[in-house]
Amino acid sequence: MQTIPMSHESHEPPLEVRNLRFDLSTVPRYWHGGRRAVSIFFDNLSVMFPEGERFFVASVQAHRAFAKDPRLAADVRAFSGQEGVHSREHVRYNAMVAAHGYPVEKMERGVTWLLAGAKRFLPRRRRLAVTCALEHFTALMGHFILADEGLLEGAHPAMAELWRWHAAEENEHKSVAYDLFQAAGGTYFERTTVMVLASVIFWAKVLEQQARMMSAVGIGFSVREWASVVRFLFIEPGGMLRLTRFYFDYFRPTFHPRDIDSTEILEAWKRVAGVPLTNESPS
Ligand SMILES: [Fe+2]
Ligand SMILES: [Fe+2]
Repeated sequence: MQTIPMSHESHEPPLEVRNLRFDLSTVPRYWHGGRRAVSIFFDNLSVMFPEGERFFVASVQAHRAFAKDPRLAADVRAFSGQEGVHSREHVRYNAMVAAHGYPVEKMERGVTWLLAGAKRFLPRRRRLAVTCALEHFTALMGHFILADEGLLEGAHPAMAELWRWHAAEENEHKSVAYDLFQAAGGTYFERTTVMVLASVIFWAKVLEQQARMMSAVGIGFSVREWASVVRFLFIEPGGMLRLTRFYFDYFRPTFHPRDIDSTEILEAWKRVAGVPLTNESPS
């Protein structure tokens, strides 16, 4: 696997903040080709994004003084810009999810409660380590979405565009929090212990929310529906098992997010998507 230098040392183009807005007015409840549990799985992740991304931006901004390198300083600004637009679009997305009959407000309160605990009990740099861990998840999620076109096959076009755009930008900025964490003196012990904890809490939350949302539409106890989402993630189109290897890369002492090369999938996304992707003008 090719090792790419840290982003602020690289010659990659600067991060771009794309102020996109997606027209969600015609998105049906089961927008992923009518697949109920799979549509819910994506909606489930969306519910976590606005609060989660605000937490990421706050923890990165709290360390911006460590971005002595001008490229890293610019990356920190662009990171906050990209995450800001993601949050805004996921707020709109989540309003749609609520209109589809899911208990979004209650679930968001749960996410807020968790992050409030992190803000209250974790020291500042530990919060940045949480961000690094969750940014590794979002980068892998992005890789998962972009590496296989089949993953959003049959999805409503606006949703496919939104998820691919978010996936791409997560890969573009995947090393910013990490580079800042290193610059702030973050240790291997800190980032790996936080990763173990964050993984357990994150997946417990995903499972809890999936059950809650499926119950809200009367399929909470449907073995067929649960099997359909497991099948989607692991078998057809699958891909989660391949990601496990990337997940464990994080525990290598010399790990850097750009060790996982996403240049090709990003180039492919730019070619297919074209920019701008929006059919509404930004407000
Ligand atoms: Fe994001
Ligand atoms: Fe991110």
